[in-house]
Amino acid sequence: MPDPALPAHAEALLPDLFDRPDAADPSPRALSLLPPVPDTAPDLIQETRPGYAALAPPYYSSADGGRLRLYQADSLELLRRMRDESVDMIFADPPYFLSNGGITCVGGRMVRVDKGGWDKSQGIIGDHAFNLLWLDQCRRILKPNGTIWVTGTSHNIHSVGYALQVLDYKILNDIAWYKINPPPNLACRYFTHATETILWAAKSVKSKHTFNYPLMKEQNGGKQMKSLWEILPPGKSEKRHGKHPTQKPEALLWRIVAASTQPGEMVLDPFCGSATTGVACARLGRQFIGIEREAEHLELAVKRLKDEIEIMNLQPALAFNSVTSPTFDGGGGGVEDGKRRGTTSFTTHSGQRSCCACH
Ligand SMILES: C[S@@+](CC[C@H](N)C(=O)[O-])C[C@H]1O[C@@H](n2cnc3c(N)ncnc32)[C@H](O)[C@@H]1O
Repeated sequence: MPDPALPAHAEALLPDLFDRPDAADPSPRALSLLPPVPDTAPDLIQETRPGYAALAPPYYSSADGGRLRLYQADSLELLRRMRDESVDMIFADPPYFLSNGGITCVGGRMVRVDKGGWDKSQGIIGDHAFNLLWLDQCRRILKPNGTIWVTGTSHNIHSVGYALQVLDYKILNDIAWYKINPPPNLACRYFTHATETILWAAKSVKSKHTFNYPLMKEQNGGKQMKSLWEILPPGKSEKRHGKHPTQKPEALLWRIVAASTQPGEMVLDPFCGSATTGVACARLGRQFIGIEREAEHLELAVKRLKDEIEIMNLQPALAFNSVTSPTFDGGGGGVEDGKRRGTTSFTTHSGQRSCCACH
């Protein structure tokens, strides 16, 4: 059914995904799950009521019929317009809500944690309401056998995990991403934060989810891959087009996409930033939809996607090498850096690097 809020040209561009009438949203279930929002919290419920502004066409659509697409939008709005059961996998690197005046160390210097306005906490209830709303939409959008991956730290991951449980997802794994060389803890009153958690969940207990087990085992030197992943933060080569304050390493996304999807399947990233997920999808032959609010990040995302498409046109064998490269230490974790321009091999690094590019 056509969405009356969409202009005709947008409808023509997005025939398969955005035909859901606004009137159905937000689902009564999502609203019933929300705790009461005090006056001081942002009016998240109000923002998600029917009656949205028209959707713009994609910010970027790859020339191959739009297999890779970026949308400039607020995810809470755009997700609601996507059709039920239309994507195979979702990777979400949402706001962690950690830019609240704390300090951290970047390149040996003490700096304020400020990833951007989008990363400021709205209070426990506001943050949890936000997580419930977008995760509820993601579950509706996922195909029955689809899975979702969500990254986080202690600032957001407990809310995300609880929301996943309440919304009837089935949690499959909690991956510990060990960042190998984290910045020191300047306060010296805590252990150095060296990991992020990545929750992997199926749409429901009935889902027959995709797990490319043999590939993961092969990647891990013939042993079952563990849920502890040693992967360096993105290196300089991954930031050659510019920096995103919380850019994820390409090696992390290669593994996630390769483990849980088949070639040609549709991957969605509702908080795509510089589109590391899209770069992995381009590399591995998956379709991609990325949603991002900020034009600055979208500009970077477009450059990265175009560059990756060009690289893959020149060197299609890279797709194979990305998922089978000998990057593992035999102990269950891999140490990688996506240094790959002009070469079909990947360097294993065990050296130290001072970097606080990630959360
Ligand atoms: C943690 S970053 C993602 C980084 C990404 N994984 C990468 O590798 O570049 C989260 C991104 O979500 C965007 N964002 C935050 N809230 C949003 C919302 N409601 N809708 C769309 N984008 C949002 C931010 O601008 C930010 O770029």
